[in-house]
Amino acid sequence: MSRKTAAPIGHRLRVRDAGECERPWEIGLLDPTQWAAQWIEPCEAVGEFARQRPAYWLASVVELPGQVARATLHATAHGVYEAFVNAERVGDQELTPGFTAYRRRLQVHSFDVTDLLVAGENVIASLLSDGWWRGQNGFARRVDDYGPTTAFLAELIVVLENGEELTFVTDEQWRSKKSHIIRADNIAGEIHDLRQFSPKSISPGGDRSAWEPVAVRDYGFDQLCEPSGPPVMRVTELPAVWTRKITERSWIVDFGQNSNGWVRLNKLGPEGNIITITYGEALDDAGDVVQANVAHYRLGVPESRSDTFQLDQVISSGRIGERFEARHSTKGFQFVRVDGLEVVDVEDLVSVVVHTELAQIGSFKCSSEDINRLHLAADWSFRGNACDIPTDCPTRERSGWTGDWQIYIETASYLYDVMAFSRKWLRDLAADQLESGAVTHIVPDPNPNDDRAITDWKEIQGCSGWGDAAVHVPWQLYRSTGETDVLAEQWPSMTAWLDYARNIAATKRHPSRIERSAEPLDHEKYLWDTGFHFGEWLEPGVDLERSRARAFSDDHGAVATAFMYRTAKEMSEIADLIGLSGESLRLRDFANEVRHAWQREFIDVNGVVSPRSQANLTRALAFDLIPADILADVASQLVALIREAGTHLGTGFLATPFLLPVLADTGHVDVAYELLFQRTEPSWLLMLDRGATTVWEEWEGIDGKGVSRASLNHYSKGAVISFLHRYTAGLQELEPGYRRFSVRPFPGGGLTRASTHHVSPYGRIQVAWTQTTNGFEIDLTVPEGTTARLWLPDNSIEEMMPGHHRREWKI
Ligand code: BGC
Repeated sequence: MSRKTAAPIGHRLRVRDAGECERPWEIGLLDPTQWAAQWIEPCEAVGEFARQRPAYWLASVVELPGQVARATLHATAHGVYEAFVNAERVGDQELTPGFTAYRRRLQVHSFDVTDLLVAGENVIASLLSDGWWRGQNGFARRVDDYGPTTAFLAELIVVLENGEELTFVTDEQWRSKKSHIIRADNIAGEIHDLRQFSPKSISPGGDRSAWEPVAVRDYGFDQLCEPSGPPVMRVTELPAVWTRKITERSWIVDFGQNSNGWVRLNKLGPEGNIITITYGEALDDAGDVVQANVAHYRLGVPESRSDTFQLDQVISSGRIGERFEARHSTKGFQFVRVDGLEVVDVEDLVSVVVHTELAQIGSFKCSSEDINRLHLAADWSFRGNACDIPTDCPTRERSGWTGDWQIYIETASYLYDVMAFSRKWLRDLAADQLESGAVTHIVPDPNPNDDRAITDWKEIQGCSGWGDAAVHVPWQLYRSTGETDVLAEQWPSMTAWLDYARNIAATKRHPSRIERSAEPLDHEKYLWDTGFHFGEWLEPGVDLERSRARAFSDDHGAVATAFMYRTAKEMSEIADLIGLSGESLRLRDFANEVRHAWQREFIDVNGVVSPRSQANLTRALAFDLIPADILADVASQLVALIREAGTHLGTGFLATPFLLPVLADTGHVDVAYELLFQRTEPSWLLMLDRGATTVWEEWEGIDGKGVSRASLNHYSKGAVISFLHRYTAGLQELEPGYRRFSVRPFPGGGLTRASTHHVSPYGRIQVAWTQTTNGFEIDLTVPEGTTARLWLPDNSIEEMMPGHHRREWKI
């Protein structure tokens, strides 16, 4: 590592997450002109088989002429790296540099390495693998999305005790070699040959004479940025619940909880012993681990793209006390099959839960254990899908599907501080947004403009309910915290998105409307009825294939126009908040036109709403698209549909979060509770009855015969738990950041008690109610700086000031 002229150390910065997640961070070297380091690439044989490529060591020596007072390592990579100083791993973050819109935003992490360096010789090393950069990505399972090679960039800044400041950088003096990780791919998993691992080779005095020179490249520094979200960590460990032998040297292990991460194996057997770990979310009839539900996208992806899936392998070195942990890829799993050991006991392995470290700020409990389990499953689904970006599932795709986060943001921001996590992702959303203003379906999108294996990707970007994340995510962050910075920062992205939708609405017509009249009707310029829309997506009985076919051909005007209305309305309020009052008025007028257009098109003269589906009616009621005079009637139409379905829900992705709330708001809370407690298909409790520990992607995720299909860990349908927070427990913000809030419990479903807490920016709010045989009691904590409106069971209202309150009613 060469010594260069000193560069200043960045100032210290703290992440805003409170409590246990607080950690000091040093800002990276942000100014491109400050970088003295060069990008280096490992020496790699041409033609390493994609999806099976090894991780590489890169290393260099740093000579220090005195004792170290302070030292910071700034590093980033094309790929995923772990940094080492004198064979000690640097820091406890995982999967650095994280996943961002790499072409424009690549995070530089800064680590305090003071305690790892010594006077004299030191070895700085990096273990570098494909990661999101060139490993398999998303449903298409493509490789080399960001480039065909991996690379590393680092600067080590050392202040000696005598005050001298030294800078060491990556450059042509570094050397590289294939590591003991002979395969590392985020979808396929990893193979480690521990016989090839020698800590000595990355320690002072280690022999690296057989290592080869690195290649120096000029990839520039303009894309480098500071990490803006909290880090990915090994957050907790889950013990094995049971192990079971299925054949000679083959064991099944259940960790009791579907989660994201990997296994740590403490028993590896004698030198040369090969152990294979296969990860899955469910077991089949024979009790073996199933991968088929998530291993393939099932829509025309050639088998070769996904032949190895979530599979780790380790070859033992025979060293005493050696453990195996594959830290360059995550897996979504509850079960593993371990092949290659005579005996596997519960003490031999743990499930290491890996996700972004988020401060928990909310909770819910009630008298029904079923509902508590549902809450826990939805919570775990979020935790399983918060690995640096909000993902759809931790298995098949691991992509930042915009629609999914748009759906879940309200729920997540009640339970966790997701501000920094979301802001990082929103910056990526804006960075990948197309010139047309279309928001990409997934963020980051490795190839926003490219053609995919399955579809002509760039032609279908920009879809309602998904792209609206550009506005609804910042809006919800504001609602839950009162912070307006995120609104101002995202404003250009929001306006580009709405302009995109508005233009299509004004200029294109769905064939069915052209058939109706050659000339457009007046209101049609406010109808967004053309283009590719996922639509409601995965309603009961409509599986992935059918949902996809509909996305291309159906008239999704009712969905897309409804979302355009909600987006315009939210933006009108946002404009006001960031000082654009003229724009706010224009947006309000536009929103009103869209609302009228929706009503003209989808409500007939008798007040009947079409398309006649639970999803459409729910959305219309939730988005305020129904005129006040027919509201009660439309709610009855919705209830009629629910009854026609034998008191079953009929919503898919987009409308499910609103179904129970609109029923409660329109006087049908009893029906809401009947749906919540429904145990036959489709329902939430059926998932639990069939063994779910996280929420499924499809309502029929595991069928009556025990066959699993699609992902078993998708948080979107879990957004129902916001009903528990906002209606069952009854806590809703009236003003952003809960400066003013209402407490209006909706008891029902036989529940006798419920409680919730939420740590608002003003402090902890607590609500707990109990229904007794002859009365109702409620305990309420109102933090300083806030006021609350308490609804009494007789529907009268009491204004509550800060403090702890208790009210009792006798019936
Ligand atoms: C993902 C979803 C996503 C959807 C688009 C699926 O493959 O898993 O969560 O939103 O595609 O509708």
